[in-house]
Amino acid sequence: MLKIKENISLKKYNTFGIDVKSRFFVECSSVQDIIDFIKIYQKQQIPLLPLSGGSNILFTKNFEGYILRLLIKGIEVINETNHEIEVRVGAGEDWDNFVEYCVKNNWGGIENLSLIPGNVGTCPIQNIGAYGVEVKDVITNVETLEIASLKTHCFENSDCNFEYRNSIFKSDLKGKHLITHVTFKLSKQPQFKLNYGSLAKEMSRFDKIDLTTIRKTIIDIRNSKLPDPEKIGNSGSFFKNPIVKYDAIAKLKEKYPDMPTYKTDSDMIKIPAGWLIEKAGWKGKRINDAGVHNKQALVLVNYGNACGKEIFSLSKDIQKSIKDMFDINIEMEVNII
Ligand code: EPU
Repeated sequence: MLKIKENISLKKYNTFGIDVKSRFFVECSSVQDIIDFIKIYQKQQIPLLPLSGGSNILFTKNFEGYILRLLIKGIEVINETNHEIEVRVGAGEDWDNFVEYCVKNNWGGIENLSLIPGNVGTCPIQNIGAYGVEVKDVITNVETLEIASLKTHCFENSDCNFEYRNSIFKSDLKGKHLITHVTFKLSKQPQFKLNYGSLAKEMSRFDKIDLTTIRKTIIDIRNSKLPDPEKIGNSGSFFKNPIVKYDAIAKLKEKYPDMPTYKTDSDMIKIPAGWLIEKAGWKGKRINDAGVHNKQALVLVNYGNACGKEIFSLSKDIQKSIKDMFDINIEMEVNII
């Protein structure tokens, strides 16, 4: 039975731990629940915000609309060969529980994406990525419910317009579809991806390289750099790494020879925003309860009682300072509400 609640605090529903309220709040655990809810919602002219893990969002004020939590569960094997397995997963499954489940079954492909906060249903939206893997590499298709028509759709991987931290669901179709299920193709004879940074070196403490030891290493690296949202509110990388033309880099490299750069698929170059922010002196800075994490400058944190506006204002100051110092625009990765 669909239950619509009113004036609910969102503090425990966003990993920044911002204490704002939502006018209405509803949880749906099946496609039918969502359809029933949308039929009610369509008669009203107020905003709708789907929220799953709340791990990529910054609330700057109370939300005068519906927060919709998608809790569709289930992990179902839909296809299997000697080499590969296809699994269809409900949008409301916790991402890292799913990674752990795959690793235990020796299904490879997402072990490098261990410990990323959030739910399965949001992983395609911003094409989550870490340690040399992006989720687009293993997604077969994304099933959605279109809000306006209440029709179900299935987007094949190539329809999703996946890019670095972007997809059709974050661009052209933003706010138009609700993701209900994601299907992944994983490998039963996994090829390990250990090329990122010091990953291979960190693995050398184990006698054996397998999905379990890779997952353990990734978890250790993340825990050593990234704050646990249960303890210090944050939403992972607040900014995207800027991708700039080679010419722009050449000048900067003269001035900052130690600046790390990464090649991309195109002839553009990616610069770690964390390095730029650290170089500009922001790492570890704290203004009231809003701060820049002291081990990874790409992560903004709420030390306790920061309000969304304080974190937003800090992010604006950082953007301006990076523009002034390096003439580079850094874009926010987090959704500001
Ligand atoms: N760096 C600094 N100072 C910092 C942070 C980073 O100098 O404060 C330098 C590092 O020394 C390194 C480089 O920047 O040379 C890259 O750092 P890191 O490996 O930590 O990765 P990142 O580019 O800062 C990205 C993702 C992370 C992901 C890591 C590992 C984005 C926006 N962020 O960060 O994703 O975990 O790579 O793959 O692409 C997230 O999206 O929430 C997230 C944490």
